[in-house]
Amino acid sequence: MAGRTVLAASALLLVGCILTGGAPADTRAFCKIVWLVEIPCSQASMAVATQMKAMGSYKLGSTAPLLIQANHTSSTGQMESVNFTMSSTTMDLGCRVEGSSKSQFWPSQTDNGTNYCNLHNVIKGSGLTTALGFMEYTNDWLCLGFASSVCI
Ligand SMILES: *[C@@H]1O[C@H](CO)[C@@H](O)[C@H](O)[C@H]1NC(C)=O
Ligand SMILES: *[C@@H]1O[C@H](CO)[C@@H](O)[C@H](O)[C@H]1NC(C)=O
Ligand SMILES: *[C@@H]1O[C@H](CO)[C@@H](O)[C@H](O)[C@H]1NC(C)=O
Repeated sequence: MAGRTVLAASALLLVGCILTGGAPADTRAFCKIVWLVEIPCSQASMAVATQMKAMGSYKLGSTAPLLIQANHTSSTGQMESVNFTMSSTTMDLGCRVEGSSKSQFWPSQTDNGTNYCNLHNVIKGSGLTTALGFMEYTNDWLCLGFASSVCI
């Protein structure tokens, strides 16, 4: 119970940092999401990497244990840069996963939730959405079209 409170508090702090950090200065479509899970980062990272390899549309670049970088090609042929960064929470058992997706050329008006779904579909497919303590933090400002996205 106490652990969960600490996790939630650190997540709020993190969202605060992202908010004060400001949006990217360019106009390309982007999405940033923070997830919390009460499992070790090594486990979360492996689940995410395995899922991305299973989905043909991601091309993984150099992956460090806690950083996964990839390029995603969507059905329209557009390419997006996708990163997942894991960091342990102050509680040993928890992991904070930060995902970001950015279109290479696509302007923000025509995103249609592409960047949100790039991230969401991986986390959902990896099974992390059912992990203990799962929480997702984002909003329409950090993640274009988040509220109206329908991921297929
Ligand atoms: C993604 O594509 C860009 C442009 O082709 C390339 O420079 C970059 O290294 C690629 N990133 C990954 C993670 O493969
Ligand atoms: C992913 O990380 C690379 C290397 O730090 C960076 O160039 C790229 O902009 C990042 N992509 C996103 C979507 O944050
Ligand atoms: C978003 O929707 C618009 C209008 O339907 C379409 O022209 C555009 O290609 C779509 N963008 C992407 C990235 O799928």
